[in-house]
Amino acid sequence: MIIIFNVFVFLFVLVLLFWLLSVLLMTIFSSPTVYANDQAVEDSLKLANLKKGELVVDLGCGNAKSLILASKKFGAKGVGVEISPYCYFLARWRVFLYGERKNIKIIFGDFKKAEPYLKKADVVYLYLLNSTLKNIESWLFNIISKKTRVVSLAFVFPGHRPIKTAKTFNLSKNTNIRLYRSSIIRHK
Ligand SMILES: C[S@@+](CC[C@H](N)C(=O)[O-])C[C@H]1O[C@@H](n2cnc3c(N)ncnc32)[C@H](O)[C@@H]1O
Repeated sequence: MIIIFNVFVFLFVLVLLFWLLSVLLMTIFSSPTVYANDQAVEDSLKLANLKKGELVVDLGCGNAKSLILASKKFGAKGVGVEISPYCYFLARWRVFLYGERKNIKIIFGDFKKAEPYLKKADVVYLYLLNSTLKNIESWLFNIISKKTRVVSLAFVFPGHRPIKTAKTFNLSKNTNIRLYRSSIIRHK
């Protein structure tokens, strides 16, 4: 009985530590974990015209919602990178639960870890703050191929003009989705 209690306390403390570490990292990187609504994610992938067999990369994949949806509804393959340990384990667990381990890879760490996959990505899906998009803009658009479609839910790249936009409903309000290509630079 005492052993079971100790195991329970140990697991509880472990989860608490993961959560605390996640909050700490999110504060440092100023990137809160907010999961987009299913419909908003689906509308984003539709705007990107994601097709069967294509590769979608989610930078900051949270609970892997976009990747699971991309695989289940569009027949795509997915790679997600996540810096929050809590989200990373949650994402892996959900990928396992949905039986998508063959189609989806989750990487732990900073966006930079996704570089090899970004080079061959057909679609990059992003749900990140304006400030984060600004920080990664030149790095991201220098890596991806000219054919890669970059779709951003709600937030904007300051230096690129979207080639298409669409409306969606996310977190109880109307919002925009923007589609970018690396070759279309904003002229100021
Ligand atoms: C707004 S959430 C988006 C979650 C998911 N993509 C969605 O659409 O529901 C942003 C995620 O990016 C992660 N993140 C922020 N900065 C990161 C970084 N430098 N490297 C990897 N992940 C990061 C956060 O931990 C958070 O889970």
